[in-house]
Amino acid sequence: MHIVVFDQEGVRHEIAGGSASSVMEMIRDHGLSIAAQCGGSAACATCHVYVDPEWFGRLPPMGEDEDAMIELAVDIKPVSRLSCQLKPDALLDGLVLTLAPGTEF
Ligand code: FES
Repeated sequence: MHIVVFDQEGVRHEIAGGSASSVMEMIRDHGLSIAAQCGGSAACATCHVYVDPEWFGRLPPMGEDEDAMIELAVDIKPVSRLSCQLKPDALLDGLVLTLAPGTEF
C-alpha cells in the first residue's frame, strides 16, 4: 500500500506503508514534519490532513474521539481527518492527502 502526501510547502511525496499502523505513522516514519503530539490517540489534532475529495468518501467514518477532536484542528474543512485514525488498508492504496496548517513540528 502506498499513499501520496503533499507537505505544508506543497511538495509531493510517495510513501510506502512498511510496518506503520496508521497513516500518521507512515507520514512520520517517512520524515515529514507532522507533530502528532499525542502519539496517535486522537487527543491532539496535530496530525490533521485534508483528504483529496475523490478519496474522502471512500474512508471509513470517523469514530467518536476523532469526531470530537477534529473540531480543535486548525482550518478544518469538509475533507478534514486525523491521519492517526486512518489505518493503512489495501483499499486505500493510492490515497492522496495534504498536511494541514498547524501540523508542523
Ligand atoms: S496524533 Fe494526536 S490526534 Fe492524531
